[in-house]
Amino acid sequence: MKGNSYGRFLGFTAFGESHGPAIGLVIEDVKPGIEFPLAEIQKTLNERKPGTGKFSTSRQEKDDIQILSGVLDGVTTGMPICLIVYNQDAKPADYEHLKNIFRPGHADYSLFQKFKIYDYRGGGRASGRETISRVAAAGMVDKILKDIEIKIYPLQIGKIEATKFSEFANELNWPDETNYDELVQYLEKIKSSGNSVGGIVEVQINNLPASLGDPVFEKLDANLAKAILSIGGVKGIEFGDGFQLTKLTGAESNDQIDETGFLSNHAGGILGGISTGQILKFRFVVKPTSSINIEQQTITHDGKNITIKVGGRHDVCLIPRLIPVAKAMIKLVLADAVSYQKLVKSQKQDLLDYREALDKIDEDILIALKRRMEISQLIGKFKQENNLSIENKERENELLISLKEKARELDISENLTEILWQSIIEKSKEMQCKTVASTVPKNKSMS
Ligand SMILES: Cc1cc2nc3c(=O)[nH]c(=O)nc-3n(C[C@H](O)[C@H](O)[C@H](O)COP(=O)(O)O)c2cc1C
Repeated sequence: MKGNSYGRFLGFTAFGESHGPAIGLVIEDVKPGIEFPLAEIQKTLNERKPGTGKFSTSRQEKDDIQILSGVLDGVTTGMPICLIVYNQDAKPADYEHLKNIFRPGHADYSLFQKFKIYDYRGGGRASGRETISRVAAAGMVDKILKDIEIKIYPLQIGKIEATKFSEFANELNWPDETNYDELVQYLEKIKSSGNSVGGIVEVQINNLPASLGDPVFEKLDANLAKAILSIGGVKGIEFGDGFQLTKLTGAESNDQIDETGFLSNHAGGILGGISTGQILKFRFVVKPTSSINIEQQTITHDGKNITIKVGGRHDVCLIPRLIPVAKAMIKLVLADAVSYQKLVKSQKQDLLDYREALDKIDEDILIALKRRMEISQLIGKFKQENNLSIENKERENELLISLKEKARELDISENLTEILWQSIIEKSKEMQCKTVASTVPKNKSMS
């Protein structure tokens, strides 16, 4: 699983652990000759850094980004671009006592169940520090997004809700000046008790053109949901009126249209996974910070009961830290959607744009082929365990007939489809035979 790689048009692979030497990313397929936006990337990284305010972690990192490859004299060379941020305020020794203990709320338990090993130092790869790579990558797509404007602000932190909106500078990005002091006092109380809180964040995207997003697996809302939910600590997302839609009837919730445009926006600016040109609206839920200074029950790696107080350096509420990360993920999703839409609309492209698109499609075909072969091997094993013959001419014929029908619908050559599938089927059978041969005991022959 390429779980550390993201995207199609701006594809990148992220790496690094919270208390390892560095966090970084490798970006491939960037055209040569483009001025590299290092200053913009550094600017977005500075927004992601922990604040110096009283509710922020005391871990202080400069997060200075360095280019290791792919850029010469400020211009891309077409080679893989490797960007890196060295961890300078890492304190791995602080985690030594937690080495064999699952911290409640953290990914320790699930990582251990899956891999039987994990980097216990500050959450390793599950730490918020991995988000440096996402934010750095997003610093490259501003040019594609042009005047699309992304507004993100907390709607609720713990039990305090924002109800009156105005713009004023504060360390929590809080939008309601009328209850800001109440919020600060509330968080001070939470912090002094060693506890933490979560909240709700609202996103409004303005100047978004209609037509972004593709049926059926590349819907804009589906891609945004995946991107936002991939951020550590995010537990839910709703578009438009979201869960409140349950309280409306169809007559109330449909966004009616007249010649002036939409008369309401309950759907949040997306219909059928495609942007309508209205304001795109969604909200997401952030859980309370897992590391708290309160004794809690857990177990050691060998299953013994133990109580721990994780303490250490952490934010009372993750929301201010998550806002720049969410913005970065939104930018990456929109950049993908905008780039695809350019192809759909056949806007003027140069040869490199077309080649880039083709290369991505070829890569997708290869990945699909790999999965097909893996499944063929499993089928081979299943057939062997159930004494079924590898060859099934009837099913092959049925498959070819239905594929040729689909080819006709899609206006693809039936002949080409047949040639391609015949060779795929042959290869699959070969793999199935190999699987069977490798699992048959030496003294038994295959029937
Ligand atoms: C930018 C950022 C900073 C974070 N900082 C902390 C932190 O200081 N302490 C903590 O317990 N969790 C922190 N987290 C959340 C953990 O990464 C998260 O709790 C963990 O991955 C498990 O949550 P999950 O099940 O939602 O993935 C942070 C997340 C992000 C995105």
